[in-house]
Amino acid sequence: MSKKLYIKTYGCQMNVYDSARMADVLAPLGYAPGDDPGDADMVILNTCHIREKASEKVYSELGRMRLLKEQRAAEGRDMVIAVAGCVAQAEGEEMLRRAPFVDMVLGPQTYHRLPEMVARVHRAGADGRGVLDTDFPVESKFDHLPAARGGDGVSAFLSVQEGCDKFCTFCVVPYTRGAEFSRPVAQVVAEAEVLAARGVRELTLLGQNVNAYHGLDTQGRATGLGALIRRLADIDGIERLRYTTSHPRDVDAELVAAHRDVAQLMPYLHLPVQSGSDRILEAMNRGHDAARYLEIVQDLRAARPDLALSCDFIVGFPGETDADFEATLDLVRTVGYAQAYSFKYSARPGTPAAGLPGQVPEDIKDARLAELQALLESQQAAFNAASVGRTCDVLFERPGRHAGQLVGRSPHNQAVHVHAPEHQVGDLATVVIEACKPHSLEGRLTEPGGIMPSATSEERLSA
Ligand code: SAH
Ligand code: SF4
Ligand code: F3S
Repeated sequence: MSKKLYIKTYGCQMNVYDSARMADVLAPLGYAPGDDPGDADMVILNTCHIREKASEKVYSELGRMRLLKEQRAAEGRDMVIAVAGCVAQAEGEEMLRRAPFVDMVLGPQTYHRLPEMVARVHRAGADGRGVLDTDFPVESKFDHLPAARGGDGVSAFLSVQEGCDKFCTFCVVPYTRGAEFSRPVAQVVAEAEVLAARGVRELTLLGQNVNAYHGLDTQGRATGLGALIRRLADIDGIERLRYTTSHPRDVDAELVAAHRDVAQLMPYLHLPVQSGSDRILEAMNRGHDAARYLEIVQDLRAARPDLALSCDFIVGFPGETDADFEATLDLVRTVGYAQAYSFKYSARPGTPAAGLPGQVPEDIKDARLAELQALLESQQAAFNAASVGRTCDVLFERPGRHAGQLVGRSPHNQAVHVHAPEHQVGDLATVVIEACKPHSLEGRLTEPGGIMPSATSEERLSA
């Protein structure tokens, strides 16, 4: 009989990818994914440690899972609780102490060993101590995972790079994910081909620093992200490519050229800068100043004039003055973003910035965040409003909330709602954008072969 698996995912897309792969690893053991934790034989919380609230949420969710586990035990049924991901990695042993009802604590680099861990939990029985595996193994998990099964979507994530050696002073990722690592080209291509054969049309390449990618080809030569993108664009069925998250320091000429030459590479890029102040960028150890960031943006836009940008910002980094914050607002005004995320600085235990003098009071962080977000939201609204009246390709991903409606994505990653028959899910259709809502667009299909011929990219640019 099949057992039920419930996975709750926090944090970045890499965790989304990892959750899918954990389900792949557990499938041969008879676990089938479900969406009701109360009915689950195994619950996995795949956690994120990036900001304070992220790990606190995990502990409160664990409290809920404990109640479910007790309820099931009263009915004579077992429930295995596992905590995976970056909080698990950071807390390790401490998590088993603080939440002794947890059966497994495993890090982002050890989930290929899940079957072994499950066996240990079952051997130990109900009163056994939880199993801990937060190594950074010498072997790569990717060499030990079963082939990706992929979901049933038209858009999929593919991890190509992991970990980080950049050590920005505010960030836990180098400690939770470990050293930078790139998967070999052939392994990435093989996974992309499986996904394409399953109907995936859009691939988002993932990495904590995805453009630091330097995977080896079969001749043992290091291959950059630009070259990898060209290789993946050759796969039949792959009509769109995206990648995230990229670091300004790793934008090289080859990657800029890929934006110019590869039609499948979408004109949308998440390129975090964090701050517009040189002093703060230096204290953050970002390895570039504001002028260099603007230069990179200029190069990318010269290569791909319709490129839209997205970004991450941190306000209230230790020592940030009003003038530093103004510099961030200036940079935002200069670049103009289609979309962005902004966060209040959160001191993370063990990171260098947590011990810096000049920690910024909470009320100042709140005020700066509100001001920055108002500016970013007005830019996003203006960007979406400018789409109205234009024609673009939309990749339909799923039925919308209203009957007869499908939801898809524009090349600029905007959600677009369109009246279209359900069999068009998975199609790339030409759509005229007719209206914009705060977080999505509405459009209509152009008449096939009728009055509205599908626009070339030049026409779209000048529309
Ligand atoms: N590798 C990516 C970022 C990954 S973390 C990069 O270098 O850009 C995702 C985002 O979380 C970061 O871009 C940053 O804006 C935010 N973040 C990371 N650590 C943080 C902290 N300690 N406090 C607040 N925000 C943080
Ligand atoms: Fe964190 Fe910096 Fe690495 Fe990004 S580049 S993951 S912010 S240390
Ligand atoms: Fe969070 Fe880990 Fe991703 S800390 S953002 S889940 S790399």
